[in-house]
Formats: sequence, C-alpha cells, structure tokens
Amino acid sequence: MCGGEQGAEGLDWREGIVPVSRRFDDPYFSLADGLAETRHVFLEGNGLPGRLRDGFHVAELGFGTGLNLLALWLAWQGAGAPGGLRFTSFEAYPLRAEEMARALAAFPEAAAVARPFLAQWGAGARVIDLPGLRAEVVIGDARETLPAWGGVADAWFLDGFSPAKNPELWSDDLMAAVAAHTAQGGTFATYTAAGHVRRALAAAGFAVERRPGHGRKRHMTAGHLAERRE
Ligand SMILES: C[S@@+](CC[C@H](N)C(=O)[O-])C[C@H]1O[C@@H](n2cnc3c(N)ncnc32)[C@H](O)[C@@H]1O
Repeated sequence: MCGGEQGAEGLDWREGIVPVSRRFDDPYFSLADGLAETRHVFLEGNGLPGRLRDGFHVAELGFGTGLNLLALWLAWQGAGAPGGLRFTSFEAYPLRAEEMARALAAFPEAAAVARPFLAQWGAGARVIDLPGLRAEVVIGDARETLPAWGGVADAWFLDGFSPAKNPELWSDDLMAAVAAHTAQGGTFATYTAAGHVRRALAAAGFAVERRPGHGRKRHMTAGHLAERRE
C-alpha cells in the first residue's frame, strides 16, 4: 500500500519543531538533536565518512524529512573527495516540501543546504541531483519496492519508526531483502537495539554488533555483511 502525499493532516508538531506521524504515533527524529543522532547512528555506525568514495551507494529505509540525506551530503562535502555518491531511499508516505522545510529548520546546518533539495522535491522530482550526490526516493511500501530494486548498497540506514509501532519495516523478510541488496563488505546501522531486529539481521547474513547509542539511548545496532546470500 502506498499512502501518497501525507500532507499536514498526517503530522503533529512536538514542541512546535519535531514532526510526529499520526499514522505511526512516533517522531521522525529525536527531540535531543536529530542531526547529532543521525551522525552518530547512521554515519559513524556505517564507518562514514571514512569509507566514502566515488560511486559509493547508500540506501535507506524511510526517507522522512530528508535529514539523513542532508547529513550524508554535508559529510561528503566535508570529505572533499572527487566524484559522486549515490543515495536511494524507500518511502511509502512522502512528506510535502513545506513539511520537510519546517522540520529541517530545527537544524541550521542542514537547513542551510536544503534549498536545492527542497526545490526539486517540491517540483515533484523523486530523483534529486545535488552537487556530488544523486538521490532517488522510491515511493511505495518497501516490502514491495525493495525486493524489486535492481541496485545494491554499500551502506544501509535502517530508519523506520520504532519496531513496536512500525513492525512491517523491520520484518525478517525485509531484513533478508536488505542483505540481498548489500554489496560485498557492505554495512548497516540502526538506532534500535530490539532483539528481534538484531536476530533478523543476523539470520539474513550480517555480523551484528550492539554499540553505544546516542544521548540517553543505551544501545544501537550496526554490522557488516558476513556472508553474501544469493
Ligand atoms: C523515522 S522516519 C524516517 C526519518 C528519515 N530518515 C529522516 O531523515 O527524516 C520513518 C519513515 O519510514 C516510513 N515508512 C514507514 N513504513 C514504511 C513502509 N512500509 N515502506 C516504506 N516507508 C515506510 C515513514 O513514512 C517515515 O517517513
């Protein structure tokens, strides 16, 4: 199922700045500095920016506000390496550009570079070209769109809503599809340390590690593909 444009009626705003999905009753990012959490969990958790190089492909479950994309783009710009990155994200309920802009306004560093992304997104583009980075957002339920995807990623950001509230984005089958779309030596990272998610990722072929979480969260999970499953 694909919900189409979610629109403002799908969001509440916690403390006026953090978007909360009514459908999932969960925030898009942490109240305690979502950009710092993205850097800790998704970038460092995948060994980034150190592994970034021309042609490196990052994939994500749950595009949301585009904050993770912009954090990756900032890291790539900071790395100053030649060439370009690729980013593919899977999203069932795309936000409107004005909702994204309101959410991103809480992070001045990301907001400062968001304009070219928001302009293309607002014009209906789902392949977004930024200097040094081409991003594609695949619209639809990831349980259908990821198995049909022809690509492989070097690093995965697993960023669904919490497994308790959004179990379909953490299922055994979907974690197996993540592994099947991971390059040799590829990695994943996620903020959750839920045991069933770690077990699903291990069963899919990842070597799974529990690591210190961000802020008050004790643990997160990261890992690398131990065994390529065909
Ligand atoms: C925590 S938010 C992602 C935050 C995002 N990475 C960011 O940078 O703002 C989780 C996202 O997963 C999406 N989602 C939930 N279930 C999904 C599904 N079955 N398929 C694809 N996307 C889904 C939600 O619409 C939401 O945008």
